[in-house]
Order: sequence, then C-alpha cells, then structure tokens
Amino acid sequence: MSETQIQELIETAIAQLAFSYTPYSHFKVGAALLAKNGQIYTGCNIENAAYTPTNCAERTAVFKAVSEGIREFEAICIVGGPDGELLDYTPPCGVCRQVMMEFCHPDEFQIILAKGKDDYRIYKLKDLMPQGFGPGNLEER
Ligand code: THU
Repeated sequence: MSETQIQELIETAIAQLAFSYTPYSHFKVGAALLAKNGQIYTGCNIENAAYTPTNCAERTAVFKAVSEGIREFEAICIVGGPDGELLDYTPPCGVCRQVMMEFCHPDEFQIILAKGKDDYRIYKLKDLMPQGFGPGNLEER
C-alpha cells in the first residue's frame, strides 16, 4: 500500500465521523475499507436505543461491501474518539476482528489505526487476532 493510499484511507475514515450516529455513547468511529479491486467502502458506527443492535463502523463498511458482491479486501483504516475527537487510536472490537477473519487474510490484511493524517500505526489482522478462528477451521480434511 502506498503512502498516498494510506492518506486517502485516513481522510476517508475521518470524513465518516460526520455520519456516525451515537446518541448514547457519543463515541464516534469512522472506517474506510480498501477492497482488492481498488474501491473504498465507508462505514460509521450506528447505535440503537436497545443498545445491542449497535453496529460498529468496521462492520458497517464490511457489510456494505459484501452486500454488493465484494469479498476481497486489502486494508481498513479506523479512526474514532469521544464526540469525534481523535485523542487516541481506536482498535477494532473483538466482534469486528472476527468479521474480518471471515473475509480477510490474517497474514496480509492491514489494519490502520490513525489519530491524524501523520499519526498512524499499521497492524496485520494476525497481530490483532492471534490464533483466530476462520473459515479454514471448518474445512473438511
Ligand atoms: N465502536 C466501533 O464502531 N468500532 C469498534 O471497533 C469499537 C467500538 C463503536 C460502538 C459504539 O457505538 C461506540 O463505538 C462505543 O463502544
């Protein structure tokens, strides 16, 4: 992934904070998911008065892509913070990591956690989900 692509993903993820629906936690998250075909799918967190139906930004982005027939991904950028202030890195929750395991190669898929355009860290899915359970575990031998 080039520096230009990283910057585009960070900018796109930050732009999603404006759409984040968080009347309960006020913690806004934005995501930008880069598909292998070069297309970027966006996501924000969407909360719910019943709490548990809340959808994280990362899953919003993945589900938008998969619902359009796209299942191969290269990277995701995640930003977030209270009222959208990027005070710290926002790592993906366990459920989102598990959803990534379904569609993304643990050794290859890159997760960019950003606090700003010049302040980011890149992890492989494998680093954030060691010994993860994925589709391969269900394959018959
Ligand atoms: N959230 C995300 O959108 N992504 C994560 O991986 C961490 C948590 C959202 C869910 C909820 O709307 C808010 O952040 C506080 O948990």
